[in-house]
Amino acid sequence: MAFLQFPDGFQWGVATASYQIEGAIQEDDRGVSIWDTFVRQPGRVQGGDTGDIACDHYHRYPEDIALMADLGVQTYRFSIAWPRIFPFGRGAVNEKGLDFYDRLIDALLDRGIEPAVTLYHWDLPQWLQDLGGWANRAIADAFAEYARVCFDRFGDRVARWITLNEPIVFTEMGHRIGVMAPGIRDLSIYAKTVHHALLAHGKAVQVFRAGGHTGEIGITHANTSYEPADDTPETAQAVEFARDFDTRLFHGPVFGKGYPASVVRNFESKDAPFPVFPGDMETIAAPTDFLGTNLYSRGLIEADPGRGVGYRRAMPRLPLLPMGYEAAPHALGDFVRFVSKEYGYPKIYITENGVCDNTEPGPDGTIDDHVRIDLLTGFLAGLHGAIQDGCDVRAYYQWSLMDNFEWAFGYSKRFGIVHTDFETLKRTPKRSAGFYADVIRRNGLEA
Ligand code: NOJ
Repeated sequence: MAFLQFPDGFQWGVATASYQIEGAIQEDDRGVSIWDTFVRQPGRVQGGDTGDIACDHYHRYPEDIALMADLGVQTYRFSIAWPRIFPFGRGAVNEKGLDFYDRLIDALLDRGIEPAVTLYHWDLPQWLQDLGGWANRAIADAFAEYARVCFDRFGDRVARWITLNEPIVFTEMGHRIGVMAPGIRDLSIYAKTVHHALLAHGKAVQVFRAGGHTGEIGITHANTSYEPADDTPETAQAVEFARDFDTRLFHGPVFGKGYPASVVRNFESKDAPFPVFPGDMETIAAPTDFLGTNLYSRGLIEADPGRGVGYRRAMPRLPLLPMGYEAAPHALGDFVRFVSKEYGYPKIYITENGVCDNTEPGPDGTIDDHVRIDLLTGFLAGLHGAIQDGCDVRAYYQWSLMDNFEWAFGYSKRFGIVHTDFETLKRTPKRSAGFYADVIRRNGLEA
């Protein structure tokens, strides 16, 4: 055991997202989102759960900010619900929606907590989906317009902006695999959504620069740290393919390296080309200020010459968490080292990392989520190691402040360091909240 000291000025935060916590879906003229639609389709979400009420954060945000203040967090990552700002279509801005985020931001700043705002965390206005959603190129301009309204309104108080959260998840899960909103399964639609999402990101960055805002802007990607299942050269090649179809597909264009050739070839052979117009790749590569990195696990890979992509997931070897992925705390440091080297050591914020641990309150009411504490200890030790090795990581956000609506899993998966009772909406800090408060206070941990 040693004490792992994080660098001076390292920031600790918690993260959430609008649809997962806000509720109040009809309040203050909020428009319908694709998730409101999706959750009402039978069989889409476990238990038929919806985000109609979620954690009722829309009304209880003062209490939630008090919880954050108790933890001692320096920064809070949340998302703005696009359908609260543009409920009905382009042009018509909803002042009441803007007012809510004004109140939230001011309340955070009053407690000395810096807001970090995600513009898109998956709750697309339904009116945009009705126009084709991410498959329609026009969405990039609609997003840039929405981004401009947010920058102009909140840019005096918000210094950290994330354009999109995990584009691989809302494009692929929503349009190729179909298990998330809008529930489409079509490779050529998926290819379009990938390109339009990245284009929307690039346009928002350009709007941000043109507006002369003083803060920083970046994008957050979902990540898996890929590892070979054995040490053959075929498997080593398969790991590179896995990285192409995931990490490089989304990071490459943003860092000016374009789409990976293997992915382009594969999609074109299936009549699913990326719809790239002249100038698009330059727009997508508009320089950003940081890279947002989300990471939860590793992926063990083996070769699969029979399939077009050349790789597949090998059988897991580590204990599985309730989400079905391996408990692999070393993955965070490993991935940060990989992505740093691959893209020239950018400034990184870990915009999400956390553990699904469904521990419920014991007889005395305490919630002893020791699996979460053990794994967080491992994740943070690995991250510390990557920083020691020269990776430029400046902040870490714990997902999540509190248990919330876990998309297609409904309320059956708990990621909070604060427990939410979804009957009473009572919040109770878990043991891990105490652990995290300690890490923050000491700017480090024993590991
Ligand atoms: C990634 C997503 O950004 C977030 O919405 C989700 O709840 C967590 N990971 C946990 O699965």
